[in-house]
Amino acid sequence: MSDENKETAGAQEPRERVIGTPSPARDKALLADGDMSAPAGAGEQLDEASAKRAERIVALFFLLAFAGSVAFIAYYIGWSGRDGGMHGVLRARESNFWLGGTMALSFLAMAAGVTIWVRRLMASKPIIQERHEFAADPQSRAVFAEDFMAGAEDSGLTKRPLLRRTLLLAAAPLGLAPLVLLRDLGPLPEKRLRSTHWGDAVEKAKRQGKKGVRLVVDGTHRPLKVTDFAQVGSMITVLPEGIEEDVPHDQVLTQVAKAVTILINVPEEKFKPAEGRENWHVNGIVAYSKICTHVGCPAALYEQTTHHILCPCHQSTFDATDAAKVVFGPAARPLPQLPLDVEDGYLVATGDFPEPIGPSFWERG
Ligand code: FES
Repeated sequence: MSDENKETAGAQEPRERVIGTPSPARDKALLADGDMSAPAGAGEQLDEASAKRAERIVALFFLLAFAGSVAFIAYYIGWSGRDGGMHGVLRARESNFWLGGTMALSFLAMAAGVTIWVRRLMASKPIIQERHEFAADPQSRAVFAEDFMAGAEDSGLTKRPLLRRTLLLAAAPLGLAPLVLLRDLGPLPEKRLRSTHWGDAVEKAKRQGKKGVRLVVDGTHRPLKVTDFAQVGSMITVLPEGIEEDVPHDQVLTQVAKAVTILINVPEEKFKPAEGRENWHVNGIVAYSKICTHVGCPAALYEQTTHHILCPCHQSTFDATDAAKVVFGPAARPLPQLPLDVEDGYLVATGDFPEPIGPSFWERG
């Protein structure tokens, strides 16, 4: 700040104090402590050997930031192209850990480098900034430009090429990292969501001479008898029997997420089966995919009086008595229906969902 401005500041009337700012008394104490005419710059107090040492430490942090950003990009490219890419819950967890870790390392190292630079190498002096109109007058702009250039000089940016270059090196991949993430817009899931474990489980059951695979209650894994689910208005989440034993360990979460199904007992006299699906229910007991066809939230709320299935995310509403057609909200198509039958008193599925589960864009793969 120029001497002229300092004098102006000293001559001003006391201002109203804004909450969160130092009190005028503390303001004065701060100014009194500092010697305005002779800035006590931390960098200027260091001898050249100490300054060089600080410079090398800062450069080391910038190199660490560079390494973190490069590791982020390398892991992203290497991971997304390996073993089926980014699909699957476990793979997503692993990638979040490594991508988040490398990015955090990069930002932390950059912050540490800049902090040490400012504290050890730059000039330290009291700075007073007056409150002005938003549009600065030409004189203020000139003062700002002068202060800015002086700050650039004090920072050592022009004098210390090693710092300048390593800072630029660290910043370059950080700028690229968000662009690399654009790759998450694709690829489409292709055919991965066209089938679920229901299809495999039904095939296996048929090879054993059965009608289909039994429905088990999510959580208890108890097979469900028709008599256990006779109460009209009931709703429960079910899965294919044996899903956790039949699929590889690292695929269990993914397969369960795809196969998750809601079973609802609607009044049989009100039920309007879709054409060709007259036998897909058992006395009004119907099964639909639990994954909302909007963007994939669990459609897990059932209103007994209206027979509506509700998705809590964006209020898509499906009619359970009418093939889960959309009656309200942004979803574009009905919840896929699972064909049901009875075997030895137990509810069984006799096939997979005929349509892809989940959001409609998945069908485009
Ligand atoms: S995800 Fe269900 S309404 Fe949006």
